[in-house]
Amino acid sequence: APLDLAIRGGTVATAADTMRCDVGVRDGRIVALGDDVGPAARTIDAAGLLVLPGGIDSHVHLDQFQGEGIAMADGFRSGTVSAAAGGNTTVIAFALQRRGESLRAAVADYHAKARGEALVDYGFHLIVTDPTPGVLGQELPALVKDGYPSFKVFMTYDDMVLTDRQLLDVFDVARRENALVMVHAEGFDSIRFMADRLEAEGRTEPASHAASRPEVVEREATHRAIALAELAGIPIMVVHVSGREAIEQIEWARRRGLTVHAETCPQYLVLTAADLDRPGTEGAKFVCSPPPRDAESQAAVWRGLAGGTFQTFSSDHCPFRYDDAAGKTGPKARASFRAVPNGIPGVAARLPILFSEGVVKGRITLQDFVALTATNHAKLYGLYPRKGSIAIGADADIALWDPERRVTITQDLMHHGSDYTPYEGLEVTGWPVTTMVRGRVVFDGGRVVAEAGYGAFLPRETSGRRASPEAG
Ligand code: URP
Ligand code: ZN
Ligand code: ZN
Ligand code: ZN
Repeated sequence: APLDLAIRGGTVATAADTMRCDVGVRDGRIVALGDDVGPAARTIDAAGLLVLPGGIDSHVHLDQFQGEGIAMADGFRSGTVSAAAGGNTTVIAFALQRRGESLRAAVADYHAKARGEALVDYGFHLIVTDPTPGVLGQELPALVKDGYPSFKVFMTYDDMVLTDRQLLDVFDVARRENALVMVHAEGFDSIRFMADRLEAEGRTEPASHAASRPEVVEREATHRAIALAELAGIPIMVVHVSGREAIEQIEWARRRGLTVHAETCPQYLVLTAADLDRPGTEGAKFVCSPPPRDAESQAAVWRGLAGGTFQTFSSDHCPFRYDDAAGKTGPKARASFRAVPNGIPGVAARLPILFSEGVVKGRITLQDFVALTATNHAKLYGLYPRKGSIAIGADADIALWDPERRVTITQDLMHHGSDYTPYEGLEVTGWPVTTMVRGRVVFDGGRVVAEAGYGAFLPRETSGRRASPEAG
């Protein structure tokens, strides 16, 4: 039978190599790769373009409960439009358990938020905030089997922090069930101590956010998370690693033979703590946790991306508005740094920033780029080989990428619900021109071209954890 679609004349890049070849698609899957894939109902001319596995962003917050009176700026509709605009074909969001709530109820809640809304495929990690005996004994084991084989736990934040004992109890479930635990490693008491001191000195401006959680706070928690994981006998994933000191802890653990995976994000490559130091509350547009650091830490993150310390590069997309829709003060513009919700948008900017600053500037290879933005996410989180590569049998999740297009990042290109981008004005080379999910073009030439709800829920397998990610 003829193909549904042929992508001809492009250059296919995977985590393993780069090759000039055509791609044949039938029933949403890649069924042929080669010089001549035969007749097709539709042809896309990819001459001059890279044919990349669509980005998988394994760290995005969409419509996540944030506290009374604070709305996240993206739900599953606008958040996945923004993802597709940035060349992504899968996002893994979070289902947040509120304390006192069952995890099952949380999962049902987030499914209801996503249903009929998503443009790209999606899964959920489970945020465990209340590890009761029922959650540890019944809910988590059952949910792992139902397609949620990854948990996120927090070592800070009033409503989410777990004690060391609770971390160990969750880690123990992960060991038995073969789940992967993502750890937010910043120390709760250290931050409170620093924030109380800054507040007492009247230092409530956005820059105090960074001052209240210096690298030592992240270093201590990273070390503690690694030690607790060693004790429990599990691999862990340290997410949003910001700089040199946490990296040192991760590399130390690896030398001891421990399996510690690590993720970093665009904010730690192109922003610094100085970005928070702006007149008025403007600096709050850059408030995220851990905060961006300094040039020395940026260099350490680049070394970690090129040298294999990091397996994944995610956005940690966590969008809030600075002004609300009526032009009044939004959550980001709150007066004290302690009241500003943490997080910045980035799902649309992630791939262009890593491609331009990394591949174009010669800091990482194109193969590293694919591994860090797609393949390793699929392997670690149980989506491989269906997602994350260009291979026969895989879903036809593809970003057609113009490696030479020069673009200045601006708010209107992000297609997100925030009213700003922290990357405004950044000049990049390389841009996604067409995003295709399961063989269907969903975003093309700056426009949405499929209906909301096309994106499907992806139950995931634990076996992905045992596929080893490519060294960066
Ligand atoms: O500041 C951040 N990163 N907010 C998002 C939530 C998280 O901790 O990942
Ligand atoms: Zn976090
Ligand atoms: Zn690893
Ligand atoms: Zn996050």
